[in-house]
Amino acid sequence: MTVTAVIGSQWGDEGKGKAVDFLAERMDYVARFNGGNNAGHTVINEFGTFKIHLVPSGIFAKNTTGLIGGGVVIDPAVLIDEIEMLNKAGIGVDGRLWISPRSHLIMPYHKILDGLYEEAKGAGATGTTRRGIGPVFADKVSYNGIRWTDFASDMFEQRLQMQLELKNKIIIALGGEALKYETVRDEYRGYYLKLKPYIKELFSLVQDGLKEGKNFLLEQAMGTFLDTDWGTYPFVTASTTIPSAASAGLGIPPKYITNVIGVTKAYTTRVGAGPLPTEIHDYESEVYKKFGEVAATTGRTRRVGWLDLEIVKTAVQLSGMTEICLTKLDVLSGLKEIQVCVGYKMNGEAVRYADVDAYGLDKVETVHQSMSGWSEDISKARTFEELPVNAQKYVKMIEEAAGVPVKWIGVGPEREATIRR
Ligand code: GDP
Ligand code: IMO
Ligand code: MG
Repeated sequence: MTVTAVIGSQWGDEGKGKAVDFLAERMDYVARFNGGNNAGHTVINEFGTFKIHLVPSGIFAKNTTGLIGGGVVIDPAVLIDEIEMLNKAGIGVDGRLWISPRSHLIMPYHKILDGLYEEAKGAGATGTTRRGIGPVFADKVSYNGIRWTDFASDMFEQRLQMQLELKNKIIIALGGEALKYETVRDEYRGYYLKLKPYIKELFSLVQDGLKEGKNFLLEQAMGTFLDTDWGTYPFVTASTTIPSAASAGLGIPPKYITNVIGVTKAYTTRVGAGPLPTEIHDYESEVYKKFGEVAATTGRTRRVGWLDLEIVKTAVQLSGMTEICLTKLDVLSGLKEIQVCVGYKMNGEAVRYADVDAYGLDKVETVHQSMSGWSEDISKARTFEELPVNAQKYVKMIEEAAGVPVKWIGVGPEREATIRR
């Protein structure tokens, strides 16, 4: 039996969706355990191209069962669309996708409040995905949340009425428009009826699976440095993103999580506000154009920077990473020189990530090392030996700094564009 967590070691969008898709083949269960549909995981395989927000990215493996744990927050309309889209694409999910009744629902007021808070903060805004994530987690921990269980126990109407009384006052005070109880009630009752066949308590299924030695793949959403506690607070997301979240979010005791794969982009990207020490600000430069990406969830432009080894090393320590899946190495092809950040300095003294807060991290001086690049297209390489020597050196340099082996190397977005070592 293995329980393997796949986590992003930077600020999200490291390529977790692709990694989970190719790792899912030998898995009995693939599970989401944190975050919500702020996640956008890209999968490109024989079925097509998918941007997935809630269903585990391993659902394409036909013998795998998908689980959405209680730690996930769900916008039901997004989940219904996703299920329909997958079924239409020939990936039958019925009977092999289960949603925990403990998961919290993103309500219309969460999305409205997310937007209103962001606008009220002005220049100090987080740059959220505006999917209602902060407000729904705030309700969860302040006992104001609505869960699927509330439909089964007939508490939904009562809890919704109470919440709308509270939330409409805040919405109106911030200049928004009040929501109508009947409209929200009918809309969400409809969602519940559609999703009811997929809602099932996961406790026995997970516990029996652990006892029977089944293989679990746990798919993190977001990245290590968007974690509420260990990320660049307040420029973070509202859930725990380090592997310990999988324990609470799925009911798997921590001792079972023995493998942690850190999906690590060969450079760095970030969406939204917050520090990015190796950020490249020369928008006309070759490297900026190469690294540039469009966000899978919001369509925003991702900010880009060189690889930051202090970030990767800190992620290794926080997550107990056992292997690295290095992604997007192909994107570096054609660069004469590649910069890598090997550490930070502040007032001439070496500092580590954990020594400074987000505002301090914005001011650190990055210590760079320069490496020679390679000109060859590497997208067809399928073995390590086929890579140009300088690309091999780049991979080995990461392994050495991180103290963790690079087991997979992404050389293109498609499932098969992967080197396995
Ligand atoms: P996730 O949120 O971690 O699943 O990552 P996203 O899907 O948001 O962003 C990763 C982007 O990189 C997507 O467009 C992927 O298709 C793409 N991608 C993943 N791995 C590779 C790779 O090795 N090479 C290239 N060129 N693209 C990749
Ligand atoms: P995946 O799983 C990248 C960022 C947002 C914003 C901050 C808070 O695809 O890697 P939120 O909507 O969560 O309240 O926004 O977190 N963010 C992500 N950035 N990838 C993600 O997910 C993200 N999910 C949230 O851009 O800065
Ligand atoms: Mg993403």
